[in-house]
Amino acid sequence: MSDIVKFEVVNKIAWVSFDRPEKRNAMSPALNRKMMSVLDELEFREDVGVLVLTGEGSAWTAGMDLQEYFRDTEAQGLKGIRQSQRESYGWWRRLRWYQKPTIAMVNGWCFGGGYGPLFACDLAFAADEAKFGLSEINWGILPGGGATKVAVELLSFRHAMYHAMTGELVDGKKAADWGLVNESVPLNKLKERVEEVCKVLLAKNPTALKATKDAIRRVGNMDYDEAEDYLVHMQEAANSFDNEGRKEGMKQFLDEKTYKPGLGAYNRNK
Ligand code: COA
Repeated sequence: MSDIVKFEVVNKIAWVSFDRPEKRNAMSPALNRKMMSVLDELEFREDVGVLVLTGEGSAWTAGMDLQEYFRDTEAQGLKGIRQSQRESYGWWRRLRWYQKPTIAMVNGWCFGGGYGPLFACDLAFAADEAKFGLSEINWGILPGGGATKVAVELLSFRHAMYHAMTGELVDGKKAADWGLVNESVPLNKLKERVEEVCKVLLAKNPTALKATKDAIRRVGNMDYDEAEDYLVHMQEAANSFDNEGRKEGMKQFLDEKTYKPGLGAYNRNK
């Protein structure tokens, strides 16, 4: 039997998997609840520096579970519908503002509601063989649950419109061309590539990473002056939380001349 969600922590990387391969990792209410509890468990663990979200079997996730998320909760009336929405949107929101950097490792099918966690992850790497689709139009609804917003955030107007109106699939390579993911590589190289990126992130100052990822998400909706103001205060807040890291970074460059910030991170083990 699959676990619905499973995880393991290896070398400071938390590998979290959608684990309902027999249902193509469709997100049921039970999966959504379990995912939230797994995110809770991992967020502040000292042995976790980065979280990777992937899927077991042929899917990353086939989106919302049409039986358990839609039909069964609709049978419970508005109360059931709203509760299941809170549970799914809840863990995606939690992931968007997660304490640790997050990477979507898209190994296969990614549909509809799957765009929520896809966007929630800071970075996304896909297999060339992966297939992405806003399939909602194919079964008679609009891409809800944030999926339309994700398309508009990540894609050009024309690509978003075409993608949502036709329901046509794009593979990993096209998803990378369109900006839906950072990169696409052959499936048998995907984990290796993601591990490489994890190592880069693990070498950085974690306070600076959290401030940076939040800033990237926040400033998109601000005008220039608001963003400038937010970033001044965000930097000062980060300094007061971990000023030693920043000073060490400056010292190793200016005084000790042991590294160049343009070419890599300072040594955090000193
Ligand atoms: N909700 C509920 N069940 C789903 C599901 C979903 N989103 N996606 C797959 N499943 C179930 C199937 O009903 C099937 O269940 P069964 O074995 O009890 O009959 C099982 O998962 C395997 O699916 P199957 O369609 O046989 O797998 P496939 O590999 O041939 O095709 C997909 C994979 C993803 C292309 C296909 O399952 C599909 O189109 N799923 C729906 C995708 C979708 O529109 N999601 C948007 C929701 S917002």
